[in-house]
Amino acid sequence: MNSEINGAKEERVYFLSVLSTFKSYRDQSLLRIRHKEKCLDTLPRHHKNWLIKYTEDLESFKKCIEKNSEFLPIVLKHAHTIFDNVYCNDGASHSEQEVGTLSEGLDKVQSVFKQLMRDWSTLGAAERKQCYGPIIDEIFANFPEDKFDRTNISILVPGAGLGRLAFEIASKGFSCQGNEFNLFMLIVSYFVLNLCKVVDEYEIFPWIHQYCNNIKAEDQMTSVRFPDVIPKPTPESKFSMTAGDFLEVYTNSDEWHCVATCFFIDCAPNVVQFIETIYKILRPGGLWINLGPLLYHYSDMKNEKKCRTQFSSSVKTKYCQNPKSMLQYEYDSVFFVCRKPIDVDPVNGTQDFSNDYSA
Ligand SMILES: C[S@@+](CC[C@H](N)C(=O)[O-])C[C@H]1O[C@@H](n2cnc3c(N)ncnc32)[C@H](O)[C@@H]1O
Repeated sequence: MNSEINGAKEERVYFLSVLSTFKSYRDQSLLRIRHKEKCLDTLPRHHKNWLIKYTEDLESFKKCIEKNSEFLPIVLKHAHTIFDNVYCNDGASHSEQEVGTLSEGLDKVQSVFKQLMRDWSTLGAAERKQCYGPIIDEIFANFPEDKFDRTNISILVPGAGLGRLAFEIASKGFSCQGNEFNLFMLIVSYFVLNLCKVVDEYEIFPWIHQYCNNIKAEDQMTSVRFPDVIPKPTPESKFSMTAGDFLEVYTNSDEWHCVATCFFIDCAPNVVQFIETIYKILRPGGLWINLGPLLYHYSDMKNEKKCRTQFSSSVKTKYCQNPKSMLQYEYDSVFFVCRKPIDVDPVNGTQDFSNDYSA
């Protein structure tokens, strides 16, 4: 009982420090620019004269940071309602001021800006086509509309980020649930998915904190608007997001028709545990569709839990990439589809992989 209360307290403290970190984004980011200005000040005058344009650029960067900060209070206003007010200040414990900010927090806020670009901006459409497109096509191919009542097909997207892939799957008529454990992502995805009502309402500068590999300062100031669409669920759509560690939230066996993972399995501290869980929660005959970098070698896995890989190929993909940067990361991502056997013969280990969903 005591450990439950302590656990709840810890969660609340963490939640408050996430809010506090979001709120500190503007000041902390401006402080970093101030630091650069101070360094400039130490240079000899004739060097400074060469860097007048850079001094002006720093002023422009500040304006972009101000702009990035503008929508955060709107997001945070609703943050408490996400978790049915369980983290509401009941006067019993800490305040945001007391808990302080998270040391790695500023990076997390910056990642949210980039993920907003990937998931909810027009500029992100190319990345989404590369990464989410093959997954959605595969779902379509395996669950054709003429054979399946798609509302009865349950699809899980662990590591959902800001929820676009899960939303796209649900908007095609499937019953889809996204899962995410990063509170920074969860708070912003709640805002986009439930409260954004105007296309392209907000402007952000996703790469404003990336000082390297920009030919022009303007490239660092590339802006995007979001959301590119209003994420309005159709009356029949079944779409939800869950908060928490995928390994802890999903423990029921044989539940999902399909698990779709995108840039996810390489996040695992223990990839075998992820795969074991995916295997367990899939229904017999269920599909695991995966796209992303770093296919780990797990050849030492026990043999009895075997999925049959239907196919595997490589796909060129990008992740939150500034198209104007001189440095273009491109992953040769692995894309594969596995099917859990319908039945495993306990005597000789023979496996039946036929799909009987349509029966
Ligand atoms: C690299 S991002 C990919 C996000 C999205 N799928 C995409 O392709 O843009 C991986 C996401 O998985 C989340 N994640 C990692 N481990 C997780 C876990 N054990 N449970 C839930 N989410 C997790 C991270 O917080 C992060 O948002």
